[in-house]
Amino acid sequence: MKLEPVKHILGISAGYHDAAATVVNTRGEIVYAGHAERYSKRKNDANIHVDMLFEAARERHIDHIAYYETPWKKQTRQLYSGQGIEWSRITTRQVLREQLGGYFSDVPTSTYNHHASHAAAGFQTSPFDRATVVVIDAVGEWDTASIWAAEYDSTGQVRYRRLWRQGYPHSVGLFYSAVTARIGLHPLDEEYITMGMAAYGSSRFSQHLIAAELVESVEHVRFRQNLHAGLAADAFTGHTAEDIAAGTQAVAEELIYSIMRRARDFGWSSNLVYQGGVALNCLANRNLGDYFENVWIMPCPGDAGSSLGAAALAYGQRINWHNASLGTEIPGEYPVHALCHSLQHDRICGVASGRAEFGPRALGNRSLLADPRGPDIKDLVNRIKRRQQFRPFAPVILEEHVDKLFDMPGGWADTSYMQVVAQCRQPDLYPAITHVDGTSRVQTVGPDGSGIRSLLEAWYAATGCPLLLNTSLNIRGEPMVNDRADADRWERLYGVKVHS
Ligand SMILES: [Fe+2]
Repeated sequence: MKLEPVKHILGISAGYHDAAATVVNTRGEIVYAGHAERYSKRKNDANIHVDMLFEAARERHIDHIAYYETPWKKQTRQLYSGQGIEWSRITTRQVLREQLGGYFSDVPTSTYNHHASHAAAGFQTSPFDRATVVVIDAVGEWDTASIWAAEYDSTGQVRYRRLWRQGYPHSVGLFYSAVTARIGLHPLDEEYITMGMAAYGSSRFSQHLIAAELVESVEHVRFRQNLHAGLAADAFTGHTAEDIAAGTQAVAEELIYSIMRRARDFGWSSNLVYQGGVALNCLANRNLGDYFENVWIMPCPGDAGSSLGAAALAYGQRINWHNASLGTEIPGEYPVHALCHSLQHDRICGVASGRAEFGPRALGNRSLLADPRGPDIKDLVNRIKRRQQFRPFAPVILEEHVDKLFDMPGGWADTSYMQVVAQCRQPDLYPAITHVDGTSRVQTVGPDGSGIRSLLEAWYAATGCPLLLNTSLNIRGEPMVNDRADADRWERLYGVKVHS
């Protein structure tokens, strides 16, 4: 019997920010998913990097290219918003020629809708046969929020039906980015710092002020002004950055939950799939269980994840999702004993082993790890990372111990991707991984055969402590380390051992 050769679909998300590529084969396996920034060393790099392209397509015949949004539709919105038209980027073919540098120019392509790609990245990797999908981001072509009914038919083909949408310029993501810029941070990158800062402010006055000044209707997700243009420099003067952040987080949560209520009330499914950059707001994510019984967020829910979404749409069926280790491989066995030894003697060490994580979180393959016990470890790690002292670190914990230490929020099918905050039950014992509001962004690890699982088991056996501090291994201002050469550079710069 002659076997059909395995075909490959290359999904591309590029040209705006955080370019990414995904390759899915005809068995529904993700053979590669990675970010351009890890190759170019430029954070949120908007352009596909040729080394990434070669790695993604290595020894594989690419039969189809799937692009994550519709360029001409995006251009109509840019024209409307006064950004003008870029005539050289009207068609997918033009954009791909620019992004892929002439490679794969004879490969057939499909173009999808921006929010449909987000929806597919979530639903087709989820454990659900049927789900309500919510997408909330800054803006796609025109959409800023959308709700979808998703299911598979009797032949396994995926079906999506859009139930509701909100359009530009009314956007939860643009609102959050505008405030992030107003308080002096980088929009489309440092929204997570705004979120962390929120715990240090009071939302009592600023929430009402921000809602009154900017929001026309919470129920219909409408704003009084186009926040794409940003906020006036003197907006909310007299309020501290912390208070503005706290008020913004509170208003954003009201808006997100209003969309969740609407999504639930369609009555399509009690399973929620949630995607778009706003799904990275792990503080807002703690209450999703109030609206749905089960929640799934693919660990790369922003536009980079839509490279997987576009490939999933072209594939048309369920994707075999195992975990987020989908990028560049650093070969060799996970260095469990070396790490455990370093942690016991030096308390801090790095690990660069296995495949790089797809998504913004280091989950144990490109991580800086530390013993989370004691009052001084947060300052020690912050000094190495040279970042704002107020920012807490995340714990990674053996799943079977999580309930003893954390009050986990309901509804989460899987908390192994650091996507939701939980109240810490013993903040005094673990100040390094507890935020000022008593919460922690918990990563649980079940018996999944991963390296980080083996390390936690060895660490627990040696110390009786079931958790470690886990933060991304990156040089300040750069993306996460990708290969061993990056890890060597990190080691030289910070004088801390990185095991492979
Ligand atoms: Fe998006």
